[in-house]
Amino acid sequence: MISTAVKKSVQAFKPMPKFELPDYTQKPAIPIRHIAVGFDGKEIDFAFYMNNQFASTFFATLSVFLTYGEDLVIETARYHRDFVKDPLLKQRVTSLIGQEAIHSKLHNEFNDAIAHEAVNFPVKLYRFLGEKFFDNIFLKFPQPLKLSMMAGIEHFTAVLAEYMMKHEKNFYYSNDAKTRAMWMWHMLEESEHKDIAYDVYQLLNGNYALRAAGFFIAFGTILGLIPFSTLFVPVLRQPKDLVTRKFWKDAKRGVALIFSPNDGVFGSTMGQIFDYLRRDFHPNDHDTSEYLEYYKEKLLKEGGAIAPYLVKVFTPALRS
Ligand SMILES: [Fe+2]
Ligand SMILES: [Fe+2]
Repeated sequence: MISTAVKKSVQAFKPMPKFELPDYTQKPAIPIRHIAVGFDGKEIDFAFYMNNQFASTFFATLSVFLTYGEDLVIETARYHRDFVKDPLLKQRVTSLIGQEAIHSKLHNEFNDAIAHEAVNFPVKLYRFLGEKFFDNIFLKFPQPLKLSMMAGIEHFTAVLAEYMMKHEKNFYYSNDAKTRAMWMWHMLEESEHKDIAYDVYQLLNGNYALRAAGFFIAFGTILGLIPFSTLFVPVLRQPKDLVTRKFWKDAKRGVALIFSPNDGVFGSTMGQIFDYLRRDFHPNDHDTSEYLEYYKEKLLKEGGAIAPYLVKVFTPALRS
């Protein structure tokens, strides 16, 4: 029923592509990096993010749900790749699909590990909810809306990645090198591929109102459903903690770490998040190329945080 109503309303948004493709010859091809971490629930630091359990719980909840968002991106990108004629953009779409597929795989391994009794994250329940939600609602949406949601989701991961790259020290409060490698590698690649979904959307559809609709769905999911789901994790994990002062102190700081307008991950980036609604917005208006170069140099080379886990780097072939 929802899907019929959505289908009808999406038909009202007529495609209006009048997008001039950026000159991709000036950009390096995007590689797909295979990394193998081998998580062990007993080794995971559940206060990984800045020694704060509540903020770390938010990221763990995000880790469970984002795999479904990534699967939506992969499915949508695969469907639309056939309509992209430019060989360089086509190659970039293949890189996006490859990078997201490995993100999803690695986060699923991390999620398996936090289900371990040492962490006791309610992975099974949240996977059940995520799967039901995406299978019955989001994946049933018509392709133009999924394309717009894909661009919207990628905007949020780009903003998150930029924030994290600008706050590198936040990854170093903990000695958990594996969790650090996963998030740093993920953030680097989200920033690296941040314009692909947007360019495909503008090229194949370009309707502004539909782009805004995809943004608001992504907004509601990432800044509504995920924080809401985070609230129940402590209740399900260790309910006896809830009566301690330590828990509430940690939770108060955790909420600020994510939502404070001064320096919170999402609270302080609201302006950049809503910049997406500017009609002439483009992801590259926020230049992250220097951070990206710094991170590639620092993390992937010998001695870097990702280097010990890097298995293979592969660049998709150029096909017309
Ligand atoms: Fe990703
Ligand atoms: Fe992405």
